[in-house]
This record gives sequence, structure tokens and C-alpha cells, in this order.
Amino acid sequence: MSIKLKTPAEIEKMRIAGKLAAEVLEMIEPYVKPGISTGELDQICYEHIVNVQKAIPANIGYHGFQHTSCISINDVVCHGIPSFDKKLKDGDILNIDVTVIKDGFHGDTSKMYIAGKPTVAGEKLCQVTQESLYEAIKIIKPGIRLKEIGKAIQKYVDKFGFSSVREYCGHGIGEVYHDEPQVLHYDADDGGVILKPGMTFTIEPMVNTGDWRTRTMKDGWTVKTKDHGLSAQYEHTILVTDNGVEVLTLRSNENFPRVIEH
Ligand code: CO
Repeated sequence: MSIKLKTPAEIEKMRIAGKLAAEVLEMIEPYVKPGISTGELDQICYEHIVNVQKAIPANIGYHGFQHTSCISINDVVCHGIPSFDKKLKDGDILNIDVTVIKDGFHGDTSKMYIAGKPTVAGEKLCQVTQESLYEAIKIIKPGIRLKEIGKAIQKYVDKFGFSSVREYCGHGIGEVYHDEPQVLHYDADDGGVILKPGMTFTIEPMVNTGDWRTRTMKDGWTVKTKDHGLSAQYEHTILVTDNGVEVLTLRSNENFPRVIEH
């Protein structure tokens, strides 16, 4: 397995792609309300990326996917297909996942939104999932094993009686959308990968209120929890720096540092 280390010039392009992807998630926030369809939300993301950012939505055409975003509601773990028939209801929790290509480089990020009035369970799950992502980012620096990331996530979500999905993982990213390494979100073998400065990859824990197991729907994309429990996901694209980590897809209103030095 070869993991590409980015040059300073490539890192600069990753910063730009990451910033654009983050901006899409900020831009869409005020539209997320009961009554709007996931198809409309996707359309707004598409127009922003293409017309305002002059960038490319990476998901369109990816293995035949026809939309800009994946929008995953309640018990949908990931890869929810936007639809004009799927309208948000009060208390729904949903993940919007976008990947933007700018100047040949990818920025991949997702976050949770709550439509209308949050439920206690929905709000708690979203909060813990975001915190689990932060727990993982905080420990990143050159020299540590890749598996420390999944270990940190699993340890954190287990404390709340939640579970971390195992079938889907984070990934190396750059000029290639899904590259080596695979970033697992639970305590598992990492093939001995040691983090090095210049690595860029996503961390994107999916956390379930119940069991971690999932099933894929007949449409071939939509992944749901097997036990119908709620699922949440947060995703950032990160860079391993000389002494820590930089969050390339940090949003401007996010209460977390862009750069951590150890
Ligand atoms: Co991703």
C-alpha cells in the first residue's frame, strides 16, 4: 500500500477545496427546515458549487450517482439519495455530505442538521458523533498508528452506549477521491500504517444509537441501520502536519481549532 504525501503546492490546493466544501455546508444551513425536500437541498448545493464556487460536485457520475450530495435522514446511515418526494419533518436529523473538486483536488465533508425542534435522542446522538470526530482529530500527529483514530472514536461513543459503524470508513483524499489508506472508525487492524506529515485523509464516523450493523436498500445506495435506530455522521478532511494536524474543511462557525500542534 502506498500512501501519497502531498507537496506544499498540493496542500495549498487541498486547503482551497476543503474550504469550498465547508462553505457549502454553511450555505445550506438556513434552508434546512421542515417541509423542504432533500431534492431541493441538493439542487441548492449544486447551484452554489457550480455557479458561485466555479467548482465541480464530485459525486455526480461517481459510480452512476446522479446527485451533488448524499442526504441521510434518521435511520439512514449514509448514501441517502436526494429526492423531491422526501420532505423533512419536524425533529428529523439529517446528514448532508458534499465533495467539491477545485483545481483537480477534492474536499470532502459532512455534518448533521436538525429540522425544526430537536428530539432529545436526536440531539444527543448528533452531539456525541461530532465530539467523537473531535476526539480523533485531537490525537493526530506524525508517528502515531492510524488505528489510534478508530480506537479513540469507538472508546468515546461506547461511553454513551452508542456504536460506531464498521462497514464504511474514511479514506485518503487528494487528486483521487477515495484513496489509500482506509480510515476505520473502530478499534481494528490498520496494516501497520504510521501517520506522516503530508498525508491527507477523511475521518467520518457514523454513530448509531443501537447496534452498529447496517443494511443496504434495494436502490443499491441507501444504507440504513439494521435495527432501525438513529444514525449520525460528521466528516472532516484533515492534513497531518509536521507536529500535529490541520482541519482542511473546518467551518467558520465551528468551535474547534483549525490547527493543533503537539
Ligand atoms: Co468521505
